[in-house]
Amino acid sequence: MTDISVFEEKESQVRSYCRKYPVVFDRAVNALLFDSEGNRYIDFLDAAGSMNYGHNNPEIKKAVLDYLSDDRIINALDMYTVAKAEFIETFNRDILAPRGLDYKTMFCGPTGTNAVEAAVKLARKNTGRTEIIAFGGAFHGMTLGALSLTTDRLSREGAGLPLTNVTHVPYDMTPGLDSIRYLRWVLGDDHSGTDKPAAIILETIQAEGGINVASVSWLKEVREICDEQGIIMIVDDIQVGNGRSGDFFSFERAGIVPDMVVLSKSISGFGMPMSILLIKPQLDIFRPAEHNGTFRGNQLSFVGGTAGIKFFVNHKLDKEVKRKAVIIESFIKEQIMPIDPRLEYRGIGFIWGIDMNNISPSLALKCVHKAFENGLICEVAGRNDGVLKLMPALTVEDSILEEGLEIVRKSIISALDE
Ligand SMILES: Cc1ncc(COP(=O)(O)O)c(C=O)c1O
Repeated sequence: MTDISVFEEKESQVRSYCRKYPVVFDRAVNALLFDSEGNRYIDFLDAAGSMNYGHNNPEIKKAVLDYLSDDRIINALDMYTVAKAEFIETFNRDILAPRGLDYKTMFCGPTGTNAVEAAVKLARKNTGRTEIIAFGGAFHGMTLGALSLTTDRLSREGAGLPLTNVTHVPYDMTPGLDSIRYLRWVLGDDHSGTDKPAAIILETIQAEGGINVASVSWLKEVREICDEQGIIMIVDDIQVGNGRSGDFFSFERAGIVPDMVVLSKSISGFGMPMSILLIKPQLDIFRPAEHNGTFRGNQLSFVGGTAGIKFFVNHKLDKEVKRKAVIIESFIKEQIMPIDPRLEYRGIGFIWGIDMNNISPSLALKCVHKAFENGLICEVAGRNDGVLKLMPALTVEDSILEEGLEIVRKSIISALDE
């Protein structure tokens, strides 16, 4: 099947990524995708960070296949199961305990946005306050509560009703604005016009917002402000958790402990739907069934998630990410930046952005098209969609990583030449 007409004729026009890569994908192995005609593509999109451990990772696949072949239970709502027990035990023993973290795990509906909804609901319930502070450039999901935190205009315009009860404050390093001073003013001045919030929610690295990496000092100050004012700090680690930043949790580099953490995307290990909210025990006050949902018990996600954690730990993936991040950054600095002095880049670990806004925002999309023609899948992000976003699987082979980066370089040159 190679024809895309069935999608164009019968699938809703809301579809998005497929428009940039108009082929029919079929197979996927680690950091490579293959279309139905067997053409090979290097994947620097990684299903938006859902496939951190590679497509069809053999160790994780084996665990999933073994589970399936034994007639084990697949959907169990939130009933107790062996698969869920193993996930909770492995996550606590191998991830939380070694980091000195003590969280209760809440299994939410299967998408990231549902866990964000749970986080803000729970923050409001704990504090009795309604307002939330989020940051310019934030992306937290598309359901109404999460959408009120999300900032990009196109997404917000889809809401169809006012998005309320959120104050947006400039993120770290917003040009010309001192984020922490502004935040302190909003919270401290009794004439700022902003009610005290239940929570401050943030991404330590804004992914959809254009690969904006918050500084350690900024993250520590936000933590301090939350402590001083009795505000709940929520870290949305949906896209940059699970090793993407070079640590399992993206906030580890700042040495802070959020009150709640949201994880999804790669937490299921194998690209299956799953999201969790980590909650400091004293905040765990939902009544039974107060945030219910049918698909909070996808056992294949638990099995994949357990195998994914074991893979992360056994292969010391955090060290691998830090090693290979140097390859990416050196290439960008030495091979891509010299192409044009107006290019800028940002990133950490395995998430990098090349900002083209100083040349022309539309250049980034042109590069995506050129890269696709040259056999590489990547995406745009940020203001005006002007940032080329590079996000390979953490398991990508060095040679494929270098081949992909070379395609990025060539694509920028040919897009600039047009
Ligand atoms: C940081 C962040 N939060 C929330 C979401 C929403 O997750 P989902 O698309 O699974 O609802 C995303 C998705 O890209 C994200 O990157």
